[in-house]
Amino acid sequence: MNLTSIPRRNYSNGPTPIEYLENLSKLLNGPDIYIKRDDQLGLAGGGNKTRKLEFLVADALKNNADTLITCGAVQSNHCRLTLSAAKKEQLDCHLVLEERVAGSYNPQATGNNLLYNLLDADSKTVVPGGSDMVKEMEKVAKQVEAEGKKPYIIPMGGSNEIGATGYVACAEEINSQLSENSLDIDYIITPTGSAGTHAGLLTGMGESNNSIPIVGISVNNEKHVQEENVYKLVGKTSDYLKLRNKIDKSSVKVLGDYIGPGYSLPTDGMIEAVKLLSQREGILLDPVYTGKTMAGLIDLIRQGYFKKEEKVLFLHTGGSPALYNYASLFQ
Ligand SMILES: Cc1ncc(COP(=O)(O)O)c(C=O)c1O
Repeated sequence: MNLTSIPRRNYSNGPTPIEYLENLSKLLNGPDIYIKRDDQLGLAGGGNKTRKLEFLVADALKNNADTLITCGAVQSNHCRLTLSAAKKEQLDCHLVLEERVAGSYNPQATGNNLLYNLLDADSKTVVPGGSDMVKEMEKVAKQVEAEGKKPYIIPMGGSNEIGATGYVACAEEINSQLSENSLDIDYIITPTGSAGTHAGLLTGMGESNNSIPIVGISVNNEKHVQEENVYKLVGKTSDYLKLRNKIDKSSVKVLGDYIGPGYSLPTDGMIEAVKLLSQREGILLDPVYTGKTMAGLIDLIRQGYFKKEEKVLFLHTGGSPALYNYASLFQ
């Protein structure tokens, strides 16, 4: 697969490491657990959105945009990283924030909210949970156009076919690392939210004829809804990249059992997972995505889902700046 014809900015310095989690693997006495450190990607604080933004911002620049508009939850890693990319490229950036949990927006909050202020967003518009985010971003785009600027709208989580291409590239990166290190992985475990990461990985692995099962742990939608979202985006991404291999719907696997009371709301499993990874491995997870996903992986290991001789690769998609907004859980 050749992605070189697609416009791309470069926001990271080489491949992110794959590390063996020796202490956690021993403690759980199950499969060998490896971690792909996408929390170490470039831009402010790293994380999966950096890979998507390399393609999305390149497309914005190709379209002569001078302003990025995007949306997310009130503590959105995607909004933080879009702002960071905008600053690097000297673009304006406007955020539309969805208050998914009523009353959760606090202009004084720390975590990503603090970073929106430090990175100096040109505007923040807070809208109630369930709002039509596309319409809300279009309203902002009209205002921006009225000021003589050229806006470019990046969808929620950067999850369209252009953003998902970042994870097609990541699948290629993982394949090279596995073959360079003669490492055979039996499963990849990833958080799945707006679906771009999961869909990009599946598309990329499919095109390389690598059939490692990819299990998405949902942080928001129930299993069937999320499987449909991922599958649709796999189709759009494959069409966009003009790929030959067709991904079968049965290869889209999502588990919806680790969301707890709702998106961004803490679970006991998440708290245990965040503590275990920091105290056993010195790695920071986040409370909304990777903490719940690691809680899922730990639970699956305890249930005997994997054989002891198998190897599992956990995708660390970043997000640790949000930890500071959940300080009371970890003091
Ligand atoms: C830290 C982190 N991990 C995982 C995800 C989920 O990735 P995706 O939206 O591509 O499904 C997000 C999305 O915002 C995120 O911020």
